Amino acid sequence: MQKGAIKVTKAATSKLSTTDFNNLPFGKLFTDHMLIAEYKDGVWGDAEILPYGPLRFDPSLTTLHYGQSIFEGIKAYRMKDGSAAIFRPYENLKRFNKSAHRMAMPDVPEHLFIDGMKQLLNVDEKWIPSAEDHALYIRPFMFGTDEVIGVAPSSKYYFMIILSPVGPYFSNPLNIYVEEQFVRAAPGGVGYAKTAGNYAASLFPAKLAKEKGFDQILWMDANEHKFVQECGAMNVFFVMDGKLITPSLEAGTILDGITRKSVIDLAKSLGKTVEEREISIDELLEGYKKGSLTEAFGAGTAVTVSKIAGLQYKDTLISLDANNMPVADLIKKTMAEIKDGSIPDSFGWMVRTNA
Ligand SMILES: Cc1ncc(COP(=O)(O)O)c(C=O)c1O
Repeated sequence: MQKGAIKVTKAATSKLSTTDFNNLPFGKLFTDHMLIAEYKDGVWGDAEILPYGPLRFDPSLTTLHYGQSIFEGIKAYRMKDGSAAIFRPYENLKRFNKSAHRMAMPDVPEHLFIDGMKQLLNVDEKWIPSAEDHALYIRPFMFGTDEVIGVAPSSKYYFMIILSPVGPYFSNPLNIYVEEQFVRAAPGGVGYAKTAGNYAASLFPAKLAKEKGFDQILWMDANEHKFVQECGAMNVFFVMDGKLITPSLEAGTILDGITRKSVIDLAKSLGKTVEEREISIDELLEGYKKGSLTEAFGAGTAVTVSKIAGLQYKDTLISLDANNMPVADLIKKTMAEIKDGSIPDSFGWMVRTNA
């Protein structure tokens, strides 16, 4: 085997024939194989593709205690011509390494992240669904594997990729709770990093919101609880006076979403005015009263484009007509058409798995 080549050990049996592709609960089913590479003594070893299965670690595994763990979420799509393509994985690689830097972890090189992903997808090629709104969700992740108690960067890491066939994340327009008490991220913190602790910290507020009947939280800024940030698994967009507006990335408190940047590029190419800036809850309430706030939607890999029908802020419900959101509909439709190859990929977003 040449240096850098990926050794593949095939699973003895496949779960493919027993998987119901008409009923795919999000993130609960995994394909037959996984990719794994180890970093130690300051270098990455070769990646290996192995049958999907459990890992064994000592209870002192540093990640379990101090959370030095980052991840990405990407989707591979079945194109109309039968081939398979990944949506903008180089953007995820960039963001992964930004997260790694913030968490004092080593960079993951392109050959592990991109070539490893393509090879894993080729091994599990038959798992890429073809139904509308379906995809193979790709989860690259890295975590510290030192087996030692003590707050310090790990000296060893695993980089892994696992795959999960998925359908739509949400089936109905969303009901969102505007959070005023808890915060997700503050300037100088880790809000822009896709790191495990951000999600752990969101679980309790999200549980409370769910108990009140909401699908997701809309986080506000940490200082004044006045400026819109993002939701638990998606960036947010509003249509006000016909313009598409979304919170800017400057404060470093929200995730630089790849769907977000794609929505912005696409909307501009469709002739829409797009503004990335501060958005206060007062501006949204005012727009709602005047009737100039006409649409709201979330954008993310898992949720794609998900319309928001309700935003609860204190005693006020901003109620929007999800059946009348032409901008969200156009963006969702055009993105889906690029992803399945129905229209030309003029942005060069789709990366073929066999290229
Ligand atoms: C907190 C948060 N914001 C935004 C997003 C959307 O990012 P992307 O479009 O890159 O998936 C995600 C993705 O899962 C997320 O977890």
